[in-house]
Amino acid sequence: MSKYFVSTALPYANGPFHLGHVRSTYLPADIFCRYHRMIGDDVLLVGATDEHGTPIAVQADKEGKKPIEIATRYHNMIKRDIESMNISMDNFARTTDPLHYKLSQDFFTYLYERDFIYPQIEQQLYCPNCGKFLPDRYVEGICPVCGGEARGDHCENCGRALEPHELKEPRCLTCNTTPVIKDTQQYYFKLSEFQDVLTDYIENNENLTDNVRNYARNWLEDGLKDWTYTRDMDWGIPVPLDGAKGKVIYVWGEAFLGYLSSAALWTRKYNPKWEEYWQDNAIHFIGKDIIYHHAIFWPALLKAHECKMPDNIFAGEFLSLEGRKMSTSKNWVVWVDDFIKKYDSDLLRYYLTIVAPLNRDTDFSWDDFQRRNNDELADVLGNFLHRTFTFTKKNFQKKIPQFENPSEEDLEFLKLIKACPDNVADHIEKMEFREGLVEIMKVVKAGNKYFNDQEPWKAIKTNEQKAANCLYLSNQLCKVLATIIKPYMPNVADKIASIINKSK
Ligand code: 2FM
Ligand code: ZN
Repeated sequence: MSKYFVSTALPYANGPFHLGHVRSTYLPADIFCRYHRMIGDDVLLVGATDEHGTPIAVQADKEGKKPIEIATRYHNMIKRDIESMNISMDNFARTTDPLHYKLSQDFFTYLYERDFIYPQIEQQLYCPNCGKFLPDRYVEGICPVCGGEARGDHCENCGRALEPHELKEPRCLTCNTTPVIKDTQQYYFKLSEFQDVLTDYIENNENLTDNVRNYARNWLEDGLKDWTYTRDMDWGIPVPLDGAKGKVIYVWGEAFLGYLSSAALWTRKYNPKWEEYWQDNAIHFIGKDIIYHHAIFWPALLKAHECKMPDNIFAGEFLSLEGRKMSTSKNWVVWVDDFIKKYDSDLLRYYLTIVAPLNRDTDFSWDDFQRRNNDELADVLGNFLHRTFTFTKKNFQKKIPQFENPSEEDLEFLKLIKACPDNVADHIEKMEFREGLVEIMKVVKAGNKYFNDQEPWKAIKTNEQKAANCLYLSNQLCKVLATIIKPYMPNVADKIASIINKSK
């Protein structure tokens, strides 16, 4: 038995959960964790809402509310959305939890005392009209690297993390004024010292998938620069140093610690030490837009703190909607809550897994969703289950018949059924979640063909054992499905299991 520490990227608590979150991060993490629990591993799946930083502060300004009110509202919504998708989270915490504050401040102090953090005067954008500095999303402009639309700390287009003063044509988000440059003292993390350590980590960690390694390589090739770890803002975790009044830890300097504080909160409730899980296998599931942060910043922070670096970082690529990039600000998204009001979560879990492998961008379209639902879930899976169960009920009084004198075709089909669980498991272990589900559907398709070929509705009158063997094997496949489908579609798996248990 192995222990697994698995985390899902922390969504900002400034809006509800949408299909993009589910596809890139939460569903793959859940499939992985459910599978490992089923084979007897001890898995801890943690997450939290990311409640600081400008994303929350800007939303609060927009609504004329306090940031904590916004964070509380969306934390509750996101938690409910995660539950409604059957994500088997062990703990879903908040980065405004006092334990998270303590952990983040202690982490900061530890690095500061060891000279990994140092003060430096830097030039920051300041809005003379609003009378405040404009960290991160408080300023918008043009990316200096690719020319795309950028928010202060991040280019939407090329995915690069930016320093706000690097932006071209900057404007204040609140009042549209062109900001001026003003000196301010910030605290820097010595990221540049970790160039060699990180190069070694990225090149030699065999678990890393190509997308993570390739993105990280690009940044490493550019050469790492020290990283501003603090901001001039009210909303956030105060910098725990004398003379740092009005400064908070940068949201990206404490959000990662949300993984650990969520686990620590879980430990408080349930006793087992989360550190043991981390030591065995530490895996982060994230979206590809935050590879930089997880493959560069976070391992460096961990190394500076003399902690083990993550064993794997698994980054799901993007989901567009009807061919257009999803955008919460343009309201071009499908919210989980709206989806779940109409459909069972398993339909979405199926669609988002089967539509494309995670290392490729893909599209959600309602037509394709409907088509796969009808042609695959209903016509292939639903049909196989339905015909097996109704035939067993009608002709074998709900009892699974005896398997005797099997034919060549019976034995061929039995071989397929027996091989299926290991094939699916192999794929899931390699994080090939789509391929595992494709494998399941292939066997179900073969099941429908076998059922058609055996024609048990005719055989029952002329050769009862042939019909009995067909229904025995079809029920065996249903039994296997109740297990192997569970990581993907837990509701469907439970339904199959409950029907089989009644017919034992
Ligand atoms: O990009 C985001 O949505 C961030 N809130 C992700 C944080 S993940 C982690 F580091 F906590
Ligand atoms: Zn302004």
